[in-house]
Amino acid sequence: MMIRFCFLLLLLAVAAAEDPYRFFNWNITYGDIYPLGLKQQGILINGQFPGPEIYAVTNDNLIINVFNNLPLPFLLSWNGVQQRRNSFQDGVYGTTCPIPPGKNYTYKLQVKDQIGSFFYFPSLDFHKAAGAFGAIKILSRPRIPVPFPDPADDFSLLIGDWLPFPQAVLINGRANATSFTVEQGKPYRLRISNVGLQNTLNFRIQGHTMKLVEVEGTHTVQTTYSSLDVHVGQSYSVLVTADQPPQDYYIAVSTRFTNKQLTTTAILHYANSQQSVSGPIPAGPTTQIDWSLQQARSIRTNLTASGPRPNPQGSYHYGLINLTKTFILESSAAQVQGKQRYAVNSVSFLPADTPLKLADYFKIDGVFQVGSIPDTPSGKPMYLDTSVMGADFRAFVEIVFQNHENIVQSWHIDGYSFRVVGMDGGVWTPASRSEYNLNDAVSRCTTQVYPKSWTAVYVALDNVGMWNVRSEFWARQYLGQQFYLRVYSPVESPRDEYPIPTNALLCGKAAPRHK
Ligand SMILES: *[C@@H]1O[C@H](CO)[C@@H](O)[C@H](O)[C@H]1NC(C)=O
Ligand SMILES: *[C@@H]1O[C@H](CO)[C@@H](O)[C@H](O)[C@H]1NC(C)=O
Ligand SMILES: *[C@@H]1O[C@H](CO)[C@@H](O)[C@H](O)[C@H]1NC(C)=O
Ligand SMILES: *[C@@H]1O[C@H](CO)[C@@H](O)[C@H](O)[C@H]1NC(C)=O
Ligand SMILES: *[C@@H]1O[C@H](CO)[C@@H](O)[C@H](O)[C@H]1NC(C)=O
Repeated sequence: MMIRFCFLLLLLAVAAAEDPYRFFNWNITYGDIYPLGLKQQGILINGQFPGPEIYAVTNDNLIINVFNNLPLPFLLSWNGVQQRRNSFQDGVYGTTCPIPPGKNYTYKLQVKDQIGSFFYFPSLDFHKAAGAFGAIKILSRPRIPVPFPDPADDFSLLIGDWLPFPQAVLINGRANATSFTVEQGKPYRLRISNVGLQNTLNFRIQGHTMKLVEVEGTHTVQTTYSSLDVHVGQSYSVLVTADQPPQDYYIAVSTRFTNKQLTTTAILHYANSQQSVSGPIPAGPTTQIDWSLQQARSIRTNLTASGPRPNPQGSYHYGLINLTKTFILESSAAQVQGKQRYAVNSVSFLPADTPLKLADYFKIDGVFQVGSIPDTPSGKPMYLDTSVMGADFRAFVEIVFQNHENIVQSWHIDGYSFRVVGMDGGVWTPASRSEYNLNDAVSRCTTQVYPKSWTAVYVALDNVGMWNVRSEFWARQYLGQQFYLRVYSPVESPRDEYPIPTNALLCGKAAPRHK
């Protein structure tokens, strides 16, 4: 009896043991940056551009107090952090009130059941084009096996095009000016995120190959590549071994699928280097879409490797689950009332005066309507609306992104990761399902859609909330190519969704309400 009682106490103690906390105080200011060598004004976090790196371990609680010292409203969002049960703090326009100038807001996030490489960014207007982005690394808990040896160091590389459209490509905030020091013979992890505004970037290192190990939280089959296409909003981890003669090597990043190719470099510096960089900057792939599509299809989940938990990632047989529903999301560009706009299923997103999540929570009418965007194309001419699509909690859905245009698109869904089951040229039909990968498709949060092509993903809608679905091509997102997916449960329970944060800022029609 006593033993059993002790055991019960132990269980309770384990259940009550809180996951660790990490605290951050961030001061957002304007300041001087030198991305291209010349002084310009950027948005800094604690004086830094890019912003400080967030280093966390699975399940850590992150308490991030953001002081907005800009003369404008400001918000940060967390690309790839799933915000389980917590869409109030997603930090996008539709979920969270902007932090007014001179005020602060403390985000309380938990990186629940996550590992991998992600980034944060300022979500309002075009702040992203001026800085305030940074890397997020989520490491596995100590006893969870990681399917590769510990690297000698773990570098974050934030790559992205830089305005005006694009004049240059930056690596960690600089063009042709960053250096990474490595020791002969040792393996290094490079976490590469495309934090830019629109361009796909190709990444490669002179004289070295890269072993892909992780994509947005999934340990991948460890394939070796000589270069990697990173679409806007995406993150990859590669292992690079310093196994070449001791000298300095170019790291090269260049724009893809553009008429004029822009290239920027950084240096892989061997600590015992005998020679500075020499020879031509390594060239990227010259073939266009096919090469990139083949590479995308080769990126798969390592079914025997652990994810955030010790069980193998592949034990969840997503291919055997019956689909509840199919959404087909067609992107388009057109003029509406004489202005350039972009849309999903003919609806170009129109911001409301109140975050949709707060309007939903306080039951404020007249802000948005569920169903204001159809879940398959309607064929109507483009129109403006505050588009919110309804979906049921625990549905298992197929989403097809259809691209009739001649550019590469990149789509992101907040609050989730999804299985990229297929992509191909042409128009998706139900027959396209015969080419799906129902075994080891990669699970991630941002996927590309090639020109005049489709990409299909499977998503288990297990996270209640109001979630932004957006183009990562920032001008398109800004001009309407986004909407909100309201994943709804009729049962109001903190098991499914946390209550509104006690410190939530209130604005718009929610401003006079009391919590
Ligand atoms: C933030 O930085 C500004 C400018 O340097 C400074 O005036 C202000 O006191 C700082 N605020 C905090 C909370 O550190
Ligand atoms: C602003 O920061 C203070 C601590 O300096 C904190 O107590 C307060 O909760 C923060 N405000 C919000 C809205 O999070
Ligand atoms: C997958 O992960 C396992 C387990 O850690 C590892 O031994 C194996 O090399 C990996 N396989 C591939 C193909 O990457
Ligand atoms: C960086 O170097 C590349 C390759 O030499 C060059 O094409 C590019 O113009 C440089 N960028 C800047 C901003 O200096
Ligand atoms: C899927 O649906 C089929 C046909 O209705 C049914 O036989 C099967 O049991 C279902 N599978 C699962 C995993 O629910």
